Amino acid sequence: MRFPSILVTFALPFMVLAGLMALQEQASAQTAGDAQPPAETPFTGDDVIRPYVIPESGPFNPEEIEIENNAAIADWFRSAHADTAAEAFRHWDADEEISPACAVCHSGEGFRSFHGLDGSDPGIPDEPVNVGGVVDCETCHNTGLSRISEIVMPSGLSHPVEGVEAACMTCHQGRTAGTTVEAAITNIPVDLPDPEISFVNPHYATAAATWLGGYGGAGYHYDGKTYSGRFFHARPVSTCVSCHQPHTLEIATDTCRSCHENGTPTEIRIARQSYDGSGDTAQGIHADIAANADTLLEMIQRYAADVATVPLIYDGGSYPYFFADENGDGVADTVDGRGVAYGNWTPRMLRTAYNWKLVTSDPGIYAHNPHYALELLYDSVEDLSGPLGVDMDSLGLLR
Ligand code: HEC
Ligand code: HEC
Ligand code: HEC
Ligand code: HEC
Ligand code: HEC
Repeated sequence: MRFPSILVTFALPFMVLAGLMALQEQASAQTAGDAQPPAETPFTGDDVIRPYVIPESGPFNPEEIEIENNAAIADWFRSAHADTAAEAFRHWDADEEISPACAVCHSGEGFRSFHGLDGSDPGIPDEPVNVGGVVDCETCHNTGLSRISEIVMPSGLSHPVEGVEAACMTCHQGRTAGTTVEAAITNIPVDLPDPEISFVNPHYATAAATWLGGYGGAGYHYDGKTYSGRFFHARPVSTCVSCHQPHTLEIATDTCRSCHENGTPTEIRIARQSYDGSGDTAQGIHADIAANADTLLEMIQRYAADVATVPLIYDGGSYPYFFADENGDGVADTVDGRGVAYGNWTPRMLRTAYNWKLVTSDPGIYAHNPHYALELLYDSVEDLSGPLGVDMDSLGLLR
């Protein structure tokens, strides 16, 4: 699609500048345009009579090469990867350096160091990294990426990767696994609030982890349950950049339409049964996931008040997101103007809140792995239904 427009862009000035050109020169301009020789060239170099002395490749416009790059740069520049004002890149401004473990995903420089693409030994950088970096061109346009054959997920799983996927999977894997939660709650009675427990945050934009599903191990998995693995989707939709334009990061919705009737991702549905008890199978699968997540959060809050004995407030805009509301007035308690982090976590509450946060902090989970999302939500609702005395059948959820 891009090819003809590029041809026109520089074939036109070419014609204006050079005037009437022999067929031969047009052919060589095309050659310069798509970097591939045409299958059949009508003339070969020497048998053409040249009216002027011009370079073999035609009257090259030095800007010509930039045409594609300009589009890529403009696209990238308005994407989140280039957003120099974002918290994801400004968080370390006051420290004037990014700590090594964070720099791996929060700066192109740290990323290259982690994978040894800058000549260093692979691994967490030895030194803090300069602030001010973003996800720059060289993060993905780096020949060294092709040498990376697997990426280790927070669960310890090594997942094989190819090409630019190595980049996406490094930074969008989150920072925790279900096993992180398990380690935080072992040997504590399941409904006993314990001040030693604090919220385990799966971090942000964890698409690569949710995409791998049960196989990636990002969620808290309940004993005796099986979890859907990587969402294979359908053949051509096999990697991050099958759906995300790599520079704008937007979804290429026209590709969805080649298989789905609806090109609005949130309205896409294949499932014939209703997962959220609404019976509505016309809505997108996104709506079932969102409804079950709402049900789960409501139950976590009820459990907090009734079983953990301190009501809970969720504030998605403020770390660590879960706050105490001791007096139950619906507003987070504050000390010195700052919200008081929730301190009455029980093992049951932590594992359900973790799964809830994992599912809801990936806004694309309904496309990355709808099955896994629905399973984690169902199992967590079921986990709370016991102590809350809720009859699972009455909710009408499906797993
Ligand atoms: C595995 C990769 C990875 C690592 C390691 C990592 N982050 Fe992140 N972090 C991300 C990604 C991806 C986002 C972007 C989320 C978004 O805004 O879409 C993010 C977002 C953030 C944000 C912005 C959250 C917001 O509300 O906008 C903060 C703050 C942050 N990270 C802090 C840290 C700190 C501190 C460390 C080191 C202790 C760290 N991160 C390590 C991947 C990582
Ligand atoms: C997050 C990863 C990523 C970043 C960052 C990135 N690119 Fe790309 N770029 C890609 C991928 C993936 C392709 C597609 C390659 C393919 O089709 O084989 C691509 C393709 C291109 C192309 C070929 C034409 C096109 O648009 O498909 C150009 C030119 C390009 N990038 C330039 C840049 C420049 C310049 C920057 C920085 C301003 C940049 N890219 C940043 C991943 C990235
Ligand atoms: C070096 C780490 C890194 C790499 C590599 C990387 N990302 Fe990101 N990505 C981030 C961070 C950090 C953010 C959040 C930036 C912000 O908040 O502005 C982000 C944001 C995003 C977003 C969110 C856009 C939005 O509007 O909020 C998408 C989608 C995304 N990345 C997809 C990808 C894909 C696809 C790839 C691979 C082609 C990729 N990323 C490679 C770190 C990375
Ligand atoms: C089947 C298509 C598809 C595939 C494959 C896919 N995504 Fe997505 N992704 C989506 C959709 C749809 C959304 C939600 C879009 C939105 O909210 O704008 C999304 C959202 C995201 C977001 C959050 C954007 C935001 O607005 O905060 C990130 C980050 C992301 N994807 C990264 C990835 C990465 C990394 C991969 C590969 C591991 C990947 N995606 C694979 C379709 C896909
Ligand atoms: C090549 C065909 C194909 C393309 C292209 C495609 N999909 Fe799909 N999609 C499928 C198939 C098949 C399923 C069912 C897969 C399964 O459940 O195992 C599916 C399932 C889904 C689901 C889950 C629906 C449900 O009810 O479980 C969502 C959401 C989705 N696709 C979104 C997208 C988006 C967004 C795009 C475009 C960025 C896209 N798909 C492109 C074939 C495709």
